[in-house]
Amino acid sequence: MKTDSTINSLDKTPDILKNDLDRNLCVCNEVVKSDIIKAITNGATTVEEVQKQTYATDGIGCCTRQVERLIETIHTPDIK
Ligand code: FES
Repeated sequence: MKTDSTINSLDKTPDILKNDLDRNLCVCNEVVKSDIIKAITNGATTVEEVQKQTYATDGIGCCTRQVERLIETIHTPDIK
C-alpha cells in the first residue's frame, strides 16, 4: 500500500522511471526504488544525501550511477 508521501513523490517522477518501484534498486542494502525516489523528492540533491536517508550506495557502490540518474532526472525539469 502506498502512503500519501509516496504518491506525492511519484507525481514528481517521470513516467519512464516509475517501473519496478517495489524492487531493490540498491541490492547491497535492500533499498527499494520508491524509497530512493522519496528521499530525492523530499530534498536530497546528492548521492551522499540519499545515502544518509536510505543507505543506498553504502555497499560497494554499484547503484551509485542509477541514484545519480534519478537525482538528475527528478531535479532537472527539462529532462522530464
Ligand atoms: S547496489 Fe547499492 S551499493 Fe551495491
